[in-house]
Amino acid sequence: MSESVEDLLRQAKQDLAEAGDLTTLEGIRVRYLGKKGWFTQRLKELGQLSPQERPAVGKRLNEAREEFERCLEERRQILRQEQLERRLREEVLDVTLPGRSRGEGGLHPVSLTLHRIEKLFINVGFQVAQGPEIEDDYHNFEALNIPPLHPARAMHDTFYIDHHTLLRTHTSPVQIRVMEKGNPPFKVIAPGRVYRCDSDLTHTPMFHQVEGFLVDEGVSFADLRGILDEFLRAFFEQDVKVRFRPSYFPFTEPSAEVDIACMMCQGEGCRTCGQGGWLEVMGCGMIHPKVFEAVGIDPQRFTGFAFGLGVERLAMLRYGIDDLRLFFENDLRFLEQFH
Ligand code: DAH
Repeated sequence: MSESVEDLLRQAKQDLAEAGDLTTLEGIRVRYLGKKGWFTQRLKELGQLSPQERPAVGKRLNEAREEFERCLEERRQILRQEQLERRLREEVLDVTLPGRSRGEGGLHPVSLTLHRIEKLFINVGFQVAQGPEIEDDYHNFEALNIPPLHPARAMHDTFYIDHHTLLRTHTSPVQIRVMEKGNPPFKVIAPGRVYRCDSDLTHTPMFHQVEGFLVDEGVSFADLRGILDEFLRAFFEQDVKVRFRPSYFPFTEPSAEVDIACMMCQGEGCRTCGQGGWLEVMGCGMIHPKVFEAVGIDPQRFTGFAFGLGVERLAMLRYGIDDLRLFFENDLRFLEQFH
């Protein structure tokens, strides 16, 4: 029997050495140490031996089993280590590779320009007001001293919804809505979308304007000039030359158009300014007494100025963009330049 213990231990050790993975190893353990395993069976059979033989054979068997267990544990450690190393090799991850970035979004240049204009006026005490884009004829025209059949209506290319309702053609109706509800003094800007039935290289059916107005006792044209001069210098971050040119708007008297010396050619004359050297940037004037009457403000006591500017136009000049369509095509290669 002791001969066969030696043989078997040798065989068992060889089995362990040949086991290539932990599953095979577990099979070997069961084969030798499980309920019906070789060692377990032999130990059970000890009872059949004579009392003289039993202690020596029992001792030898126990020693062999312990040795097998030691070898089994050793082999298990080695296989575990190998398995770990194999996984590390196979699942290698280069944490030094740069990550894939998520493409940060940014604001549209028209929004950036709008925010910039708002900020400059807020800084000098203006409040921001809003009005509806679906407007009525009264606020868009009549209260602004543009009665039915007034020739100025023809210039507005209005989208009518019905006889009295339209898409506002300018932000000037917000003047009316604000003054109707409150009392002077007013110091307000009204940014927003406006609509005109007009579409070509330099016109889009929707664009943005900022309206501004200031009403108080003793407001003069000099105040208007001062504010707009300062605004244009701050907006363009340059000592721009500004010129006020007499003009006509039904809701202001006197009225003016504001030009700046062309920043592409410094007033020399180029394609941007149509060789004239000047660029028109907004309309303005002293609020017409008829407008004050429409909103119940005494024109004997209060005076005020108003102005209206096109946001796309200012954005084009500031960023040097020469095609209006770029704002509306949503080409990311264009938009990403403004992040
Ligand atoms: N509402 C005018 C337009 O859309 C712009 C404008 C001109 C606004 C003169 C004003 C102003 O407040 O005084 O063409």
